[in-house]
Amino acid sequence: MSQVKIAPAKEFSLSISEIAPDKSISHRSVMFAMLADGESRIENFLRAEDTMNSLEIVKNLGATVEDDGEIIKISSNGIQESFEVLDCGNSGTGMRLFCGLLSSANGHFVLTGDKYLRSRPMKRVTTPLLNIGAKLDGREDGDFAPLSIRGSSLKSFNYESKIASAQVKSCMILAALRADGVCTYSEPELSRDHTERMLKGMGADIAVDGLQTTITPMKKLLSPLTIRVPADPSSAFFFAVAAAITPNASIVLEGVTLNSTRIEAFKVLEHMGADISYEITDNKYEPIGNISVKYAPLHGVTVEENISWLIDELPALSIAMATAQGESLVKNAEELRVKESDRISTVVEGLRSCGLEVHEYKDGYKIVGGELSASKVDSDGDHRIAMSFIIAGLRCGMEVSDLDCINTSFPNFFELLEKITTIEFIK
Ligand code: S3P
Repeated sequence: MSQVKIAPAKEFSLSISEIAPDKSISHRSVMFAMLADGESRIENFLRAEDTMNSLEIVKNLGATVEDDGEIIKISSNGIQESFEVLDCGNSGTGMRLFCGLLSSANGHFVLTGDKYLRSRPMKRVTTPLLNIGAKLDGREDGDFAPLSIRGSSLKSFNYESKIASAQVKSCMILAALRADGVCTYSEPELSRDHTERMLKGMGADIAVDGLQTTITPMKKLLSPLTIRVPADPSSAFFFAVAAAITPNASIVLEGVTLNSTRIEAFKVLEHMGADISYEITDNKYEPIGNISVKYAPLHGVTVEENISWLIDELPALSIAMATAQGESLVKNAEELRVKESDRISTVVEGLRSCGLEVHEYKDGYKIVGGELSASKVDSDGDHRIAMSFIIAGLRCGMEVSDLDCINTSFPNFFELLEKITTIEFIK
């Protein structure tokens, strides 16, 4: 399916329990199972392209995987050298975390990905890993995949990251678990913390003090992981925006992780005027629950702090900003330029094509809110751009092309969207 036509939505009132499971937690669950002594059990794993690639990679690394379609059971006898090139597909998380995991493993490994991933910067992980004795290389002096890794012994480190990136942090925590002494990692702002929570839950000695994480290497294998993956707030957010921009609409998004490093975009939407409430129903590794969103007229907002807490939601948030009264400003978000697409350009161009006044900056953009008009937008192979402009279509009608990327994170997106509006698949 390559193109879709979305009709404007009328008011709706829905409760959705089938939001895609969390992508970050799904990737981590199969990787961390490789560090356990015994069988890990993962329920509600995200069966999307990115995370299925990670599952395939752990199989190629010698893990025994039993999957009955409901629960995935993984046992590992230590990481084995792979006969295959390890294909991370579109996933930066997959590639960067596997770099940390494999740098200390016995053997030689090659990581690659699709044409988009092979163009994304890897020095942010290869440089700190090389500095602690890892043996890895890639195109352009180790900046681009394919990457090759020869596992080796790693030195302890005190690393101060200049970017708030959970991918870099998680890569270095995985490396630290097998380094030759206690390691510290600090970051300028707290990035999502699933790695710390999950590995601590498995018995790893990880202490978090503000922005600094101290990791004591593993003396023995960790306890197996038992987890039910909660719904992904980044996927849920598309439907939050759908409700927030459709007069008289309301939605309940069920079973979502309410980890504060993940729900900042909902807080901003609330600040813009949407009526949002949260109900905690469970707490395993992190708080989990329901988010209710009701339409209310939105006003402009400035977003300049805790950017890593809403980086993935900024494209969808921009659609809400576009319909809001007044100006909205996004600052300090240069990281958007190195996501699945250059999301500053793709958001700015997409909104301009809908007739809005948008100013582009190096580290963000300014959107002058107004009435969106129907347009044709190409996703540039970026799932979040595709879904964001489809949601914009609920307000004004829209044609969006290059849609296969949606399968990387949210395979049942259209099934759920059909509850809200009419969708015409063109090809
Ligand atoms: C992720 C971290 C974020 C996020 C990505 C998933 C993760 O990337 O954008 O979608 O699972 O660790 P950065 O760590 O590069 O900011």
